[in-house]
Amino acid sequence: MSITINGKEIDVAANETVLQTARRAGIDIPHLCSLDWAPSPSASCRLCVVEVEGLPRLQTSCSLEARDGMSVQTHTPRILKARRAILELLIASHPQDCLTCVRAGGCELAVLAGDLGVRERRYVGAVKEHPIDISSPSLWRDPNKCVLCGRCVTMCHSVQGIGAIDFVGRGFQTRVAPGFSVGLNVSDCVYCGQCARVCPTGAIVERSHVEGVVAALADPDTVVVAQVAPAVPATLLERRTKTQDVHTMLERLAGALKHVGFDAVFDTSFAADVTVMEEATELLERIQDNGVLPMFTSCSPAWVHFVETHRPDLIPHLSTCKSPQQMAGALIKEIYPAYAGLGDKRLVVVSIMPCTAKKFEAQEQTGVDYVLTTRELDALWGRFGVDLAHFAEPAPLDAPFAQASGAGRLFAGSGGVMEAAVRTAHKLVTGHELEGGPRVNEARGSEGARHFTIAAAGVDLNLAVVNGLGRLQETLDDLLAGDPPVHFVEVMSCPGGCVGGGGQPYDTDGDAVHERLERLYDADKRSSLRTSHDNADVRALYEDVLGRPLGEVAHRLLHREYVDRRPAVDSVSV
Ligand code: FES
Repeated sequence: MSITINGKEIDVAANETVLQTARRAGIDIPHLCSLDWAPSPSASCRLCVVEVEGLPRLQTSCSLEARDGMSVQTHTPRILKARRAILELLIASHPQDCLTCVRAGGCELAVLAGDLGVRERRYVGAVKEHPIDISSPSLWRDPNKCVLCGRCVTMCHSVQGIGAIDFVGRGFQTRVAPGFSVGLNVSDCVYCGQCARVCPTGAIVERSHVEGVVAALADPDTVVVAQVAPAVPATLLERRTKTQDVHTMLERLAGALKHVGFDAVFDTSFAADVTVMEEATELLERIQDNGVLPMFTSCSPAWVHFVETHRPDLIPHLSTCKSPQQMAGALIKEIYPAYAGLGDKRLVVVSIMPCTAKKFEAQEQTGVDYVLTTRELDALWGRFGVDLAHFAEPAPLDAPFAQASGAGRLFAGSGGVMEAAVRTAHKLVTGHELEGGPRVNEARGSEGARHFTIAAAGVDLNLAVVNGLGRLQETLDDLLAGDPPVHFVEVMSCPGGCVGGGGQPYDTDGDAVHERLERLYDADKRSSLRTSHDNADVRALYEDVLGRPLGEVAHRLLHREYVDRRPAVDSVSV
């Protein structure tokens, strides 16, 4: 099957739209409202219009199925004129604060205006004056910058299955907001940030911690240390750096962070190794003691927030382990001041994370002072004049948390927590490593839910991996009523896991997520240390400080409690 685009014959894949076929052929048709993740496009922005031979009216290519023999034109004078008029109307009521907007230099709307030759405002519409929503600890929403493309609504409803935001109001007053226009903090939002990841303008962005970090770096009485999540170097490799592997990228990132004033840089993968020790031990204890099963992982803060706000009945199923971010924060604050001889100096811990929900998590717990998303790093580099692509001063990760296993790095991808935990749980139960090597193929992949069984010392461990909150809701009842019962479930809120997190670079098709996953697998394969329980720094930590997994000190520093956050019925007014 083939179609002709601009006179060139192009093969068509099954169920492909004209927009997708054109993109595959290297023809860029402007589009705002369509997303590759979405099951069916809303076709509301009209920017993707094309001419189809035999049809008098322009057609939206995002909703037009590519049919055999079709002949399409994508950039005729008629089309360019129509697109330009559409864009001019879109910006007629847009705030004129582009110079100071958080998306300055990276705004899709501004890029489209440039591409379409819109270099003046011919139409000046009424100015929108919707209140800005700063109620969320993770996200900042400015409806005045919204172009109503609906990508955020698609992600929230169709991909994540949450439905916290939707179109409200009519005509010029139409906006995207939570129901009854309440703040995100009291809506159904779980702070995953998938809305922000696809927003083409500055209408939904992360709540920035950059100024707090810059102020801490400028204070001579403050020691500022960073911890870097494994998804971050796996993502920064996309920046045309000459570096090829995740660990080298991490050391270059550590060098850049020290260059701008950080006193030490730690690898959150180290804390992931500690999480594995605690979580695997907790799972085995629950199985032996007839505890609540299945046990769900607790490292994805949007998932934890989902449980606390939507399904508090599941709280007993959550592992009591803190996330790696919070374990690292607690360990750094407990151990590093004496280790580094900081005396009276204030210690500030900054997390570099792919995630917006981590900002909420850090606010609710102690140990981490600021969270910068992968995107916010660019603001930091801009402030201090660092060109990361050419910055070539690597620095080693800092003691006493320097070593991390390949298993710890896998935490950044869907199935990674499970794979890391299986490696260690097998060792704890049987006394020996997995036969056939550490790779657990069953945990890998990008399907919504993956079930598999691992036999260990005569016990069949029934395991499941859930990739994304949208898929979770389809499979949750089956997991809870599993027959045979499911023992352990990994849940990642964001599609693909942390590498597809809401704080990651702006993205509308998710293709980069698969490449990041492959880089993590490669990092694990290259590592001479592939199991958390063999990490020498982790062993030293247990010998010197923690005692044993789930012991008293470990419990104080590394475990947490949960809160039923459902609003009391009588506090809800409509
Ligand atoms: Fe096709 Fe918006 S992208 S109508």
